[in-house]
Amino acid sequence: MQFFPWAALVSLLASQSTNAFNFPFESHQLTESDFGNNSDIVFASSTASTNSSRCKNYPGDADWPSEEKWNSFNASLGGALIKGIPPAAACYNGTYYDADKCTMVKKMQMSTIFTTADPVIPNGQWQLGNPCPVPQSSVSPPLSACNLTSFPAYVVNATSVKNIQLGVNFARNNNIRLTIKNTGHDFLGRNTGGGALQIWTHPLKALEYLPEYEMGQYSGKAAKVASGLEQFELHQYMEKYNMTILAPGSTTVGAYGGFMGGGGFSTVLTSKLGLMADQVLSFEIVTADGKFLHADPEENEDLFWAVRGGGPGNWGVVTSLIVKAYDTLPISQGLIGFQTFPLFINSTSTVQVSEEAFWKGVSVYFSWLPEITSAQGVGWNTLSGFTFNGTKSFTFNGRVNLGGWQKRDAETFMTPMLKDLNAVGINLTSPTVQFYPTYPQQAYVPGGPGEGASNSRFGSHLFPRSTFADATSAQFNASMAAIRSFVEDGGYSFHSVDYTPTEDVAGWPGTNSAVSPHLRRAMMHATGYDVHDSGPQWTAQQQIESHARLNAYVDKWRAAAPGSGAYMNEADTQEPGFRESFYGGNYGRLLGIKERVDPWDVFYVVTGVGSDRWYSEGVKGLPTQQGRLCRV
Ligand SMILES: Cc1cc2nc3c(=O)[nH]c(=O)nc-3n(C[C@H](O)[C@H](O)[C@H](O)COP(=O)(O)OP(=O)(O)OC[C@H]3O[C@@H](n4cnc5c(N)ncnc54)[C@H](O)[C@@H]3O)c2cc1C
Ligand SMILES: *[C@@H]1O[C@H](CO)[C@@H](O)[C@H](O)[C@H]1NC(C)=O
Ligand SMILES: *[C@@H]1O[C@H](CO)[C@@H](O)[C@H](O)[C@H]1NC(C)=O
Ligand SMILES: *[C@@H]1O[C@H](CO)[C@@H](O)[C@H](O)[C@H]1NC(C)=O
Ligand SMILES: *[C@@H]1O[C@H](CO)[C@@H](O)[C@H](O)[C@H]1NC(C)=O
Ligand SMILES: *[C@@H]1O[C@H](CO)[C@@H](O)[C@H](O)[C@H]1NC(C)=O
Ligand SMILES: *[C@@H]1O[C@H](CO)[C@@H](O)[C@H](O)[C@H]1NC(C)=O
Ligand SMILES: *[C@@H]1O[C@H](CO)[C@@H](O)[C@H](O)[C@H]1NC(C)=O
Ligand SMILES: *[C@@H]1O[C@H](CO)[C@@H](O)[C@H](O)[C@H]1NC(C)=O
Ligand SMILES: *[C@@H]1O[C@H](CO)[C@@H](O)[C@H](O)[C@H]1NC(C)=O
Ligand SMILES: *[C@@H]1O[C@H](CO)[C@@H](O)[C@H](O)[C@H]1NC(C)=O
Ligand SMILES: *[C@@H]1O[C@H](CO)[C@@H](O)[C@H](O)[C@H]1NC(C)=O
Repeated sequence: MQFFPWAALVSLLASQSTNAFNFPFESHQLTESDFGNNSDIVFASSTASTNSSRCKNYPGDADWPSEEKWNSFNASLGGALIKGIPPAAACYNGTYYDADKCTMVKKMQMSTIFTTADPVIPNGQWQLGNPCPVPQSSVSPPLSACNLTSFPAYVVNATSVKNIQLGVNFARNNNIRLTIKNTGHDFLGRNTGGGALQIWTHPLKALEYLPEYEMGQYSGKAAKVASGLEQFELHQYMEKYNMTILAPGSTTVGAYGGFMGGGGFSTVLTSKLGLMADQVLSFEIVTADGKFLHADPEENEDLFWAVRGGGPGNWGVVTSLIVKAYDTLPISQGLIGFQTFPLFINSTSTVQVSEEAFWKGVSVYFSWLPEITSAQGVGWNTLSGFTFNGTKSFTFNGRVNLGGWQKRDAETFMTPMLKDLNAVGINLTSPTVQFYPTYPQQAYVPGGPGEGASNSRFGSHLFPRSTFADATSAQFNASMAAIRSFVEDGGYSFHSVDYTPTEDVAGWPGTNSAVSPHLRRAMMHATGYDVHDSGPQWTAQQQIESHARLNAYVDKWRAAAPGSGAYMNEADTQEPGFRESFYGGNYGRLLGIKERVDPWDVFYVVTGVGSDRWYSEGVKGLPTQQGRLCRV
């Protein structure tokens, strides 16, 4: 972690003007005196000068910048330009061969600490068509081609606002695809693209705690945060300053990149404190014209509205923000587990049950979501089936995350829920509650469980509050049946996080944002995973068929709760009707803002606002990002 000793000086400067930047790395900005004779790095002269050529420039194209141009660009960056070579290139004969590095890559490839620290590769690589797989002797035929063209061509190491501005200007002026990588966790492929110039925001690390902060209708604790911070770093700051701020559920996920841009739910606190986007009071951003702007409810209001929940990577590069902070609070976590096969551990929170009782128990747990969310809690669960000892078997793990609750109160809360489970044959006798005195203490350590780099497809759906309003209704029953079929017939794994980020919870200025209206009405964010990964051993045809099968099962969820959307950050990149499903009624206003602030489509991301004007060439029917980006 990188700390900035200048924080005191910066807060002095910040107090002098509402337009002031937050951190020292933001004081290094691009000015006209930096241009010299290099026309590649100048600001956009006017928004009228859009490039009407059909495709973005791609490596090998006649108009692709020469080595000299890249070198001058690198000089303007002070040497912060990195060539887009994936680490696995070390395993292939040629310029980048390096046996020791290859051994390290083979060992580390599944670690998100490794992929996050790499400037080039995203976490999952099916989104790029798996162009440079780590060779595996176990796979027949051995995978042995490394296609460098499919990765971002160059990466700007974003250590200052100036470098980000240079990157945006160079990409726009040369009509090159631009991508942003923060941690690389994105599931949809919004963080990568073949032949792109990539801005790598990972180095932007800083936090300053503001114990008393006033802005508009907000008065309370706050924090200035740099946009490259990850969950585990926030937990360290929370402990250091004895306060709470919202964070993602896994340690290496970034809090202020994709997580904030798509809404961002906490697996523990969202029914109590809202979404990540709801926490934001102001931010600093480099826009498509290369300018560095401040946005808050009264300045650049459209951008302020769009960036909070209107989709990541589509409006500019956010460099820092001011977010709400809170007192520390205890977390109680009620545990419920049941399975149809024998228990191998001595557990007070898990029991073996009949198959009939199992599915009744799943319904009972979900019938409790209105109570859980009314208590400002969040449901979290996994449900899957597999063959055990020749018999079809099922397992359910549920949690009731109660933010702000003491252990004794949580036990009291859980007791009637257990009675309901007992009534359907789930013999859980007394509540099991894990207690954490503070929010950061309930988290895993970096690289812990749930942190592996995955390469599989999935689908998702938001079930609205109305589904759960009456657990004897046809809508509730249909939803339970669709979930059961997904696991029992489909053979897939189910996971849901159940929360209610209503307008009331969002508060000021959260309510007035581009967060999807579907999220505001949701009670269950359901995700379903394919059993296979989409690795290089699968042909395009196999991947297409496998996805079609998965999608047919997700369609059952959509049919059970129609028109209630999906959460854009954890969704199928081929979600049908994504404009409505991801953005709800906000799409039209967002498109208007997009056309005004980025007429060049500098910030293209798949499934982003206005993205349907573009497609990736040569991707064999897959929704992958390695090809040349062209207009539809
Ligand atoms: C293990 C795991 C756990 C997760 N847990 C949660 C969870 O608890 N709650 C939840 O809501 N989601 C969760 N997610 C989903 C998560 O919100 C998305 O994967 C999100 O895209 C991650 O953002 P990132 O910045 O870390 O990743 P990246 O892949 O680096 O970036 C994702 C997108 O954000 C854009 N972006 C990144 N930084 C910036 C920036 N500074 N300015 C503008 N655009 C930027 C990129 O262009 C890209 O489009 C989880 C994902 C994983 C893999
Ligand atoms: C730009 O100026 C530098 C010296 O400042 C010179 O070396 C270079 O050739 C010039 N480039 C062009 C394209 O004129
Ligand atoms: C648009 O970009 C192409 C390369 O993709 C380039 O040849 C052309 O000169 C550009 N046009 C304008 C008007 O900038
Ligand atoms: C950019 O310059 C730095 C230092 O001058 C150098 O180390 C680096 O390799 C250069 N990057 C590229 C892509 O050439
Ligand atoms: C690399 O080259 C050597 C020698 O020509 C050859 O034996 C080996 O199979 C090659 N490896 C790969 C991964 O292509
Ligand atoms: C990015 O820049 C920082 C600061 O100059 C440097 O420490 C780091 O090594 C660079 N990262 C890469 C991958 O070049
Ligand atoms: C931390 O904050 C909590 C809640 O505001 C308070 O009760 C507690 O005393 C504080 N602890 C320390 C060590 O300051
Ligand atoms: C299971 O755990 C409980 C409580 O820790 C203990 O009393 C009991 O003896 C254990 N039973 C077995 C079979 O290990
Ligand atoms: C597996 O199945 C066999 C035959 O039905 C049974 O005898 C055995 O006890 C089972 N094993 C376990 C661990 O359940
Ligand atoms: C439920 O479990 C308890 C303790 O494990 C046991 O004493 C009781 O007999 C069980 N009840 C039923 C109905 O199985
Ligand atoms: C839903 O299922 C429950 C439990 O099986 C049943 O009692 C109820 O009648 C069903 N509701 C409808 C509308 O079919
Ligand atoms: C590498 O990938 C690019 C983008 O998909 C494709 O155009 C090119 O043909 C590939 N090259 C090889 C050698 O497969």
